[in-house]
Amino acid sequence: MPNGKLAVVTGASTGIGLELAKCCAADGYDLIIAANEEMAAAAAELTRLGAGGVVPVVTDLTTAEGNDALFNAVADRPVDILIANAGRGLGNNFLDEDLDKALDVVDLNINATLCQVHAIGRRMREADAGRIMITGSIAGFMPGSFQAVYNGTKAFLDSFSYAIRNELKDTGVTVTCLMPGPTDTEFFNRAGMTDTPVGEDDSKADPAKVARDGYDAMMRGEPGVVSGFMNKLEALFAGIIPDTVLAQMHRRMAEPQSAR
Ligand SMILES: NC(=O)c1ccc[n+]([C@@H]2O[C@H](COP(=O)([O-])OP(=O)(O)OC[C@H]3O[C@@H](n4cnc5c(N)ncnc54)[C@H](OP(=O)(O)O)[C@@H]3O)[C@@H](O)[C@H]2O)c1
Repeated sequence: MPNGKLAVVTGASTGIGLELAKCCAADGYDLIIAANEEMAAAAAELTRLGAGGVVPVVTDLTTAEGNDALFNAVADRPVDILIANAGRGLGNNFLDEDLDKALDVVDLNINATLCQVHAIGRRMREADAGRIMITGSIAGFMPGSFQAVYNGTKAFLDSFSYAIRNELKDTGVTVTCLMPGPTDTEFFNRAGMTDTPVGEDDSKADPAKVARDGYDAMMRGEPGVVSGFMNKLEALFAGIIPDTVLAQMHRRMAEPQSAR
């Protein structure tokens, strides 16, 4: 049964997004969850965890129509939490990538986030209340050789999140940027990066822990959180190491082994 408090979470079928939705469910929020594929199992799990009502919206968020489908599901309901989390990566060197796939990454990671924050953020500002979380990444701190487009989109999101947070500082709306490091989800498989040192690394973070760090920071109204001690260190050093060196370091993590 719907109970009134509503959280909208994109990319909630798997990985970090599903774990973020679970945090909302455990706090009794109604949920509207969006992803590209069927989400019956996720919806059932969220209901079991305590969500008042769960509306799954199967939609391709790389398109304007796909985002409209999400907004139609929200209709005129007040939104307490927006978690703009759906995102995907794309490995390999840029010139050998299919351009359409690279543009899809921009459409999903950047354009869809802008559509969602613009539509729902305006309503939150009008109500003078709301929490927005954007899933950025520590990838946004470094030029992403062999994942160049993805890191560029995350640099955009990290920056955008802090910028609109400042624009909203005199309102009751907070904006929090979650910046995970490598996390054990479908991400690397979907990005075609299983054949890379970072893809093969078996010490990736637990998505439940990453989500909990982000959720707690959002609920405290904090500007951002880098999840994990080593990632915090990496973020710190990224601020002082020259970009040419960072790009070379990223190559070591993300270049396909078969290309070596
Ligand atoms: N894993 C990492 O190492 C890592 C690190 C830093 C940041 N992040 C960020 O964390 C976020 C979640 O990623 P994840 O690691 O949890 O990966 P994931 O398990 O692959 O989850 C991605 C989510 O986005 C959804 N999605 C993908 N394409 C979509 C589309 N066209 N339309 C609607 N939904 C779409 C997926 O839905 P379907 O299953 O239906 O396709 C899925 O729910 C992303 O923004 C990612 O960039 C991940």
